Amino acid sequence: MKKEQIIEWLKEANAAKLGLLWKLADDVRKKNVGDDVHLRGLVEISNYCIRRCGYCGLNAENTSIDRYRMTAEEIISCADEAVNYGYGALVIQSGEDYGIKAQWMADVIRSIKSRTALAVTLSLGERTDEELALWKKSGADRYLLRFETSNQQLYEKIHPSLPGKKSDRFAMLLRLRQIGYEIGSGVMIGIPGQSYEDLADDIECFGRLSLDMIGCGPYISHPKTQLGRENSEVEDMQGQQVPNTELMTYKVIALARIMCPLANIPSTTALATLNTENGRELGLLRGANIVMPNVTPIKYRSMYEIYPAKACINETATQCHNCMKGRILSIGRTIGQGRGDSPSYKQRKSV
Ligand code: 5AD
Ligand code: FES
Repeated sequence: MKKEQIIEWLKEANAAKLGLLWKLADDVRKKNVGDDVHLRGLVEISNYCIRRCGYCGLNAENTSIDRYRMTAEEIISCADEAVNYGYGALVIQSGEDYGIKAQWMADVIRSIKSRTALAVTLSLGERTDEELALWKKSGADRYLLRFETSNQQLYEKIHPSLPGKKSDRFAMLLRLRQIGYEIGSGVMIGIPGQSYEDLADDIECFGRLSLDMIGCGPYISHPKTQLGRENSEVEDMQGQQVPNTELMTYKVIALARIMCPLANIPSTTALATLNTENGRELGLLRGANIVMPNVTPIKYRSMYEIYPAKACINETATQCHNCMKGRILSIGRTIGQGRGDSPSYKQRKSV
């Protein structure tokens, strides 16, 4: 699909035409990754963050949240819980927390890998090549790092680099692939200052990077962030500002599926936050094939407030599990068994 065509879809308002996009995405999904929906247990192990991202509630300048870092034992018991629910993968996520020491993390990974058959996905921010290689060697399988936006200027504005160290997430994604990880990335939809052209570039990037996993959700304003404090109307976008809506999110999921037929694509919590009733299901019906039920201990949940009113925040792991299963079955899909490795990764490995 050409960039002009992507932009046209992003601007499309006609419901009948959009029906064709949903149908196309769903057909591509079915043909390439089937009806299985894989569940990944998500554990948010620390909300400490050294970054000052303009969009994220965990940013270092936010002094109004209590910070926590889970113990190794707590993380391992979440892994056991994920196994009990039948999940094939555990996603270990945190703020960019250098209190998470490389060797400590490596030991946690080893311990999970030795007692379970879980695939382990890391989402721990920008770390050194040595750390990433050590974690891979310790058994980690996948790494998630969203590039957030491919517009360099906008990225630098919302994601300030650390002193003396320019943030280059595209370079880091390539290194992750060289190290041997399955790689996942993605963007936020409707960041103030993001144009339709930018978003079309993002979608083209998914294809160019041949991502194994693509996570996209709407940008949701958080009052304790730079962007949340600014008036998002300030910049004159001349009608080119992407809205951070539910509809735009479905369009991006559908286009991502068409660009990367074999990728694993989640129906995200941010999307479910905009439509708690059936956002998850609609994401799955329009290209997605993954959901990530939260297995973080309930006492930490409210402290991991990336954006406000996050869906499922008060749901126990059991409630979330049952709810997700019900939603998947209600739309005639099946629960994926096993690790749910990315078919694109497997294909690459076999050539
Ligand atoms: N709204 C939506 N998504 C957000 N993220 C961070 N802050 C927000 C927000 N305010 C997303 C980013 C990050 C992922 C873990 O959560 O894309 O990579
Ligand atoms: Fe988590 Fe429904 S999906 S409670």
